[in-house]
Amino acid sequence: MSLLSVLDRIADVSSMDRVVSPVQRAVNAVLRPQALKDALHGTWLGHPVHPVLAQVPVGTWLSAGVLDLLPTTRRAATALIATGVAASVPTAMAGAADWSEQDPGVRRLGLLHAGMNVVALGLYVGSLRARRRGAGGLGLVLSYAGLTLAGGSAAIGGHMSYAQSSGASHSVTAARTLGHDWIDLGPMDDLPEGRPALRTGDAAGSPVPLVVVRRGGRVSVFLGACSHLGGPLFEGRVEQVGGRDCLVCPWHESAFDLDGGDAVRGPAGVPQEPLEVRTEAGHVLARLAGRHREG
Ligand code: FES
Repeated sequence: MSLLSVLDRIADVSSMDRVVSPVQRAVNAVLRPQALKDALHGTWLGHPVHPVLAQVPVGTWLSAGVLDLLPTTRRAATALIATGVAASVPTAMAGAADWSEQDPGVRRLGLLHAGMNVVALGLYVGSLRARRRGAGGLGLVLSYAGLTLAGGSAAIGGHMSYAQSSGASHSVTAARTLGHDWIDLGPMDDLPEGRPALRTGDAAGSPVPLVVVRRGGRVSVFLGACSHLGGPLFEGRVEQVGGRDCLVCPWHESAFDLDGGDAVRGPAGVPQEPLEVRTEAGHVLARLAGRHREG
């Protein structure tokens, strides 16, 4: 058993849901305004905000750990610890927003991640208070204990991202399975007006779901798996969100701009993967964007 596979064992413990579920409800109640949640998801950035913000507490606390090794740089270390403590609040809010709309296993592991971060934050706050009182030795002990916990928690966060695909684009994953040639999606006249339609591309003989939306003479084609958690966008709906024509996912209501795929409403923080489209002899053809093709 590998070192971090124990985390997958923890993610399997369904009894944790007795704690996870009420916390999830509380997070959703506190972060109720959709605009606040979207800001925390990173729809405005096209990327989840939490991993961007997390660099501040992790970076400052790690740097403080180095500066604390020398008595002459301990004042600078204290300033870095205070910076990390301040940054941990928006970092936690962004993480909680993302966490509240994840798979059960990610939520269980996320609870452990959050709990360790809360304890680490408490240790750092205690360290700051000890340093202010002149108890430098205690301040050092508390901050190194906080660094140990925060480091372990960061490893759990990395496992959630890399091994459990939280925050990763599930539509890009689907794109990797699709061939690179133009795909004939059938006659334009067969497409319903203003509603998503399921078509398929080919991945070495296996079908890959695509979603096609026709608006008059314009056709938008995307990977069928939602970038958030892979929901079936072809079972979604088209509606106006923020003044833009959007494709709305049936699983968690993420909305993607039909012109380009930008996430207009979360929880998706990354865009939906669009395909290039052209028409030929009344048929709609689509293929992956150039970034997926060699040469
Ligand atoms: S899978 Fe969550 S919004 Fe689409």
